[in-house]
Amino acid sequence: MNTEHWIAADQAHCWHPFTRQDDWVRGEPADPLVLVEGDGSWLVDSEGKRYIDGNASIWTNVHGHKHPLINQAIIDQLGKVAHTSYLGFANPRASELAERLCAMFPPKTLERVFFSDDGSTAVECALKMEIQYRIQTGQPERVHFIAFDQAYHGDTMGAASLGGVGEFFDQFRKFGFPVKHLGGLDDLEALDHEVIEKTAAVIIEPLIQGVNQIRPWPKGMLAKLRQWCDRHGVHLILDEVMTGFGRTGKMFACQHEEVIPDYLCLAKGLSGGYLPLAATMVRGEIYNAFLGGADKALYYGHSYTANQLGCAAGLASLRVFEQEKTLEQLPQKIEFLSEQLAKLADDEPLVYEVRQCGMIAGIELRARDGQPFDKQWRIGEKVSVMAREYQVLTRPILDTLVVMPPLSISIDEIDILCSGLASAIRDYVGMHHEQDEVL
Ligand SMILES: Cc1ncc(COP(=O)(O)O)c(C=O)c1O
Repeated sequence: MNTEHWIAADQAHCWHPFTRQDDWVRGEPADPLVLVEGDGSWLVDSEGKRYIDGNASIWTNVHGHKHPLINQAIIDQLGKVAHTSYLGFANPRASELAERLCAMFPPKTLERVFFSDDGSTAVECALKMEIQYRIQTGQPERVHFIAFDQAYHGDTMGAASLGGVGEFFDQFRKFGFPVKHLGGLDDLEALDHEVIEKTAAVIIEPLIQGVNQIRPWPKGMLAKLRQWCDRHGVHLILDEVMTGFGRTGKMFACQHEEVIPDYLCLAKGLSGGYLPLAATMVRGEIYNAFLGGADKALYYGHSYTANQLGCAAGLASLRVFEQEKTLEQLPQKIEFLSEQLAKLADDEPLVYEVRQCGMIAGIELRARDGQPFDKQWRIGEKVSVMAREYQVLTRPILDTLVVMPPLSISIDEIDILCSGLASAIRDYVGMHHEQDEVL
């Protein structure tokens, strides 16, 4: 097997997520890169070229690749057992991880953890719990949800119903859950009483929407949303699949505004970005509605629920947070990233806006007149491909370049990442004179 063979087999047989397969198999806008190794903030392709992992392997990696402590924890667990059923059995790693997660919140708040596999399933599970909760507490009409425009909560059917990105989700709307999409707090305040009475829960990506081209919410919004929910007997589901585990500068985004949700959905960084593992954390009073006989139990689960390797990685990741003082190191890195991004916004053409929340940033590219580029041009994609020449890997969202490296990235590596993106933007402009009037 070599690069050529892997690419040929991929193009003949594999189907990639969120990918225009016809272009992919033609090698447009670039031949597939085959990633074979990782080390800290770096990834290595099958030809031995090294790149900074600029989007933390789709927003998952926390402490870097091949981290000795996490690797060892997985190896140790492998020496015992990789996976055992969680249906009717307990396992040590899941017990320990659930205990650790609950201890991160005040007593009598988020007291229960339901494990699953991915961000989508963490959200899916919260939805089903919430509907069943309402039915079992005598509110069978109250089973509608509120989500926000351009939100992204995953791709399983329930999670997709909550999604606000029309291109991804509109064709599935009629098959999904009853969801009302709103622009923000003002829309919420303006809702009719009849709508509120039917609303079970509001779901939000706290502090910042990721797939909506990295777009922060106004400061204080989350705390106000919590108050609105409390005023109206509506539950609050926080989707911290992207923001959890240090990305925003604190362990969880909700801690910035001292909010505790009724459901907290976690995935991606939960296992340090090593293995598919998710958790839906819930308040005790919700859990209690599922007690009292077979009729009340939650009939939901996946084969790999509470996978022992994943939970071992999750526990090891939490140990690394302590040992390496990951959160304590972040303010300096976040500030340096801000400075570099501000410089890039000042110096580079096409940079319309830089948006940042902790170690999450987006660089939006637009035409000189401030108008978004024609989508057909796929400028974000092309600039990202050009950044490979400068040892940077990332995946854009439309024309927004995403900067979301592992939290363990060093100051020097942040410099390489930002200057690589700056050079790629400059190169793109230099090579496309024919589009001069808009560029
Ligand atoms: C906020 C948010 N929720 C849910 C998901 C879905 O997670 P997964 O892709 O693990 O199913 C994502 C994925 O990017 C996300 O950003």
